[in-house]
Amino acid sequence: MSLSRRQFVQTLSAGAAGAWIGARGREASIFGGLEGLHAQGDPLILASNENPLGPGQAVLNAVRGSFSEAGRYPFATAADVTRAIAESHKLKPQNVLIGSGSTQILRTSTHVFTSKTRPLVACIPAYEECADYARLMGHPISTVALTPGSLTMDLDALLGASKGGGLVFYCNPNNPVATGVDAKGTRDFITALLKASPDTTILVDEAYFEYATMPGYETMIPLAVDNPRVVVARTFSKAYGMAGLRLGYAVGHPDAIKKMGDWDGNGTVSVLALAAGMVAATQDPSIIAAESRRNTEARSFTAKWFSDRGYTPTDSQTNFLFVDIKRPCREFREACAKHGVMVGRDFPPYEKSHCRISISTLADMQRAVQVFEKVLAQPSAAAA
Ligand SMILES: Cc1ncc(COP(=O)(O)O)c(C=O)c1O
Repeated sequence: MSLSRRQFVQTLSAGAAGAWIGARGREASIFGGLEGLHAQGDPLILASNENPLGPGQAVLNAVRGSFSEAGRYPFATAADVTRAIAESHKLKPQNVLIGSGSTQILRTSTHVFTSKTRPLVACIPAYEECADYARLMGHPISTVALTPGSLTMDLDALLGASKGGGLVFYCNPNNPVATGVDAKGTRDFITALLKASPDTTILVDEAYFEYATMPGYETMIPLAVDNPRVVVARTFSKAYGMAGLRLGYAVGHPDAIKKMGDWDGNGTVSVLALAAGMVAATQDPSIIAAESRRNTEARSFTAKWFSDRGYTPTDSQTNFLFVDIKRPCREFREACAKHGVMVGRDFPPYEKSHCRISISTLADMQRAVQVFEKVLAQPSAAAA
């Protein structure tokens, strides 16, 4: 861990202490235990679903090249990047709204489409940003359990809960459980939802889109562009390796994009992130295809390692695994941390049996499984 990374981690820990801890804050707070590990060398961080390689050289060069623009507001660049992203999907700028990470898109959607009388509807667990934000605003939240066993979204139950909802948060693939729904299942769900609940909007979060490998998985962008009640969220934080730069976007019908942009669409993305985004959105698609293959190889290795030992992961379509480790996540996490490997936090209601483990490079995962081997060889204190 470099000095700057270490300082960053310390800042996060100090900032999280005593404060209300939201989804991202909870991710940050797990780094609080890292300081004691520095003496043992660099900790391996498998806790926040980041791309271990970060952005490519061309993106980094663009960020460095944008320093001279730091004194200017980014209005023109934001319009250029919006256009570049739109063109990468063969769409118009009116179909795209950029934000400081897709977090901003998730919050804006929740703000615009839920109310005191129109709940946010989501599976539990799913990525918490929308539910946390609805809670913060005092808007009701309606939740649905996942299908036992496969831990996929229970679409019948979700449809039932969605009637009269303001916004349905549809995380596909779903964080933290890593499972996905194919295009037919998602399209059928959206069609049924739009019919059954005429005032409800659906936000399809495709943060891990580039990592999904299941047959029949597809983006819902074509549906969103045609219908103001469907919005897709995308991010440069995962496969594009730009989590620290903060750039995400919504894709949708111009009416939905305008509604969201009117509330929160101005100048929130820095010139550095925009410079990075311009290169990332226009780079050769083979770069992301290679990143997806790299992740699939390291993910398959790690999933097989667990399965071979009787610890079943869900069918991951992401850059992380959700594994039944047959003991409380906290016990496993703390034991791994003692060996310098940081794994994911608790995700109720599965915190007594499952842990989320982000996928790093193959070499890192080969190192990590040696620690998992030692930790899992110990009987669980919970079983005693
Ligand atoms: C499903 C999902 N959506 C959205 C986000 C937010 O990502 P960002 O704000 O970095 O784009 C995350 C982050 O981990 C996520 O897992």
